[in-house]
Amino acid sequence: MSGDQPRNQPEDVNLQSADGRAERLSRLLGQDLVLAGPEVTRYCRDWHGDVTTGAVAVIRPRTTQDVSAAVRAVAELGLSLVPQGGNTGLVLGATPDDPAGQVVISLERMTAIRRLDADDFSAVVEAGAILSDFKDKVEAAGLYFPLSLGAQGSCRIGGNVSTNAGGINVLRYGMTRELVLGLEVVLPDGSVFNGLSTLRKDNRGLDLKQLFIGAEGTLGIITAVSVKLMPAPDQVATALVGLNALSDAITLYRRARRDCCDLMSAFEFMPPVAFTLAREAMPDLVMPIRGDYPAYVLMEISGSGLVDIEGLMQRFLEGVMEDGLVADGVVATSKAQARSLWLFREGMNEGQARRGPHLRTDVSVPLSKLPAFVEQAEAAVMERLPDCLCVSYGHVGDGNVHLNVLPPSGLSAEEIAARIYTAKSAINAVLYSFDGSISAEHGIGRLKKAEFLARLPDTQARLLAAIKQAVDPNLIMNPGCQLNYRTD
Ligand code: FAD
Ligand code: LAC
Ligand code: ZN
Repeated sequence: MSGDQPRNQPEDVNLQSADGRAERLSRLLGQDLVLAGPEVTRYCRDWHGDVTTGAVAVIRPRTTQDVSAAVRAVAELGLSLVPQGGNTGLVLGATPDDPAGQVVISLERMTAIRRLDADDFSAVVEAGAILSDFKDKVEAAGLYFPLSLGAQGSCRIGGNVSTNAGGINVLRYGMTRELVLGLEVVLPDGSVFNGLSTLRKDNRGLDLKQLFIGAEGTLGIITAVSVKLMPAPDQVATALVGLNALSDAITLYRRARRDCCDLMSAFEFMPPVAFTLAREAMPDLVMPIRGDYPAYVLMEISGSGLVDIEGLMQRFLEGVMEDGLVADGVVATSKAQARSLWLFREGMNEGQARRGPHLRTDVSVPLSKLPAFVEQAEAAVMERLPDCLCVSYGHVGDGNVHLNVLPPSGLSAEEIAARIYTAKSAINAVLYSFDGSISAEHGIGRLKKAEFLARLPDTQARLLAAIKQAVDPNLIMNPGCQLNYRTD
């Protein structure tokens, strides 16, 4: 155990009160590991600031042994644990919903890279490492960790694994699951699942680590992860193109896959309002393209070694412009220019957050149906809510759209909630007619639990409940998130 040594004082605290329980945790684990009182609040607010709750305490372990001790102490007090990484999740998975019964366990102090092996193209990193810090260190070693998302300056590897995060490079490198080679997890009884192998191939029966990927902290606490690394792409070409219709994005994507021989690493679409939203958050951004088009695509081709990425991008764009598939475009001529193109894509999230509470979705449909889905779902929303703004953008290559709906300013909280409800129902009705998913990459958390449960087939519900019962029979891990195990 690290930090202050725990003091074995006689029991003189009132365990009926939250303060008394926090004090008891502090005595069991040492003051260094336990935060209580007002400091707890900043761990209990979601990224958008839509929800603020509370917790008995926040435990901040420094080692895997600390995590085991924390799990045992929390269980002894009859409390439960809400694991937290960077708290950038968008579905309230890391935000407690029972302030008197839950303790947040933040991995923010477990940030070490335990091993980085260039010959093995692998690394072992602790769960609390911030994604961009880890990527920078990997890059300094001449390698590349491809998971890339707008929140990478704050989200942490353990959170990425627990949500099976997606992001902008999925079309080439896969979701987080495909980058994970092994895991170390503290189980709900305090024991440690030690699976930090870096083997690429290992078919010795069921692959148990998969249980914890995407589990959103409901089965254990991930303390370290072994991951695949890639050769660093030393050539990257980034282009922003304007299209005459969103449906052209699918034709362009198909063409890019054919012409760019698997070197395409990102293909994102944005509506015209993206530029306005991004500049509301980042006023210094300069408009990169002159005309006004119904849809934009931000694409990236990258590679290392002997390929000519710049030439490939040029030839590709010449071809599609000649064929009238792309109306206008700009290719970044420097890293700084490429970065500023990406800032439009990333800044739109913050721009929307600044406009106040709104509906955020994260849906997926079969790739070829993405334009039809967006058109029908936006029409369904506008028919019911003509005063709202639909903002559809996302990961074309994954058939993943964030169709968000922003109410106008000046409404009461009740009016906003009613519009969010109406918009969500309208979008979901269209989504289900396309056999789509309500969560492509953000998870279920607490926010999407009702919709998830409403359509969960009995067989899947039975299997999920059986796994939970086997791994966490006392329901210590993140109750309230994903399945409502207490009543199911
Ligand atoms: P948290 O929010 O802290 O936690 C998420 C869930 O994982 C919670 O249920 C929590 O209990 C659990 N958890 C966290 N750490 C652990 C652990 N060590 N062990 C067990 N359980 C744990 N997501 C995408 O997929 N793609 C995107 O492109 C994307 N872009 C984003 C852009 C912005 C601006 C923002 C704010 C968010 C974005 N997200 C995106 C969502 C979010 O960043 C990801 O879900 C991310 O993986 C969450 O990581 P985190 O460390 O913040 O996790
Ligand atoms: C994005 C987040 C919202 O793609 O997933 O920007
Ligand atoms: Zn996304």
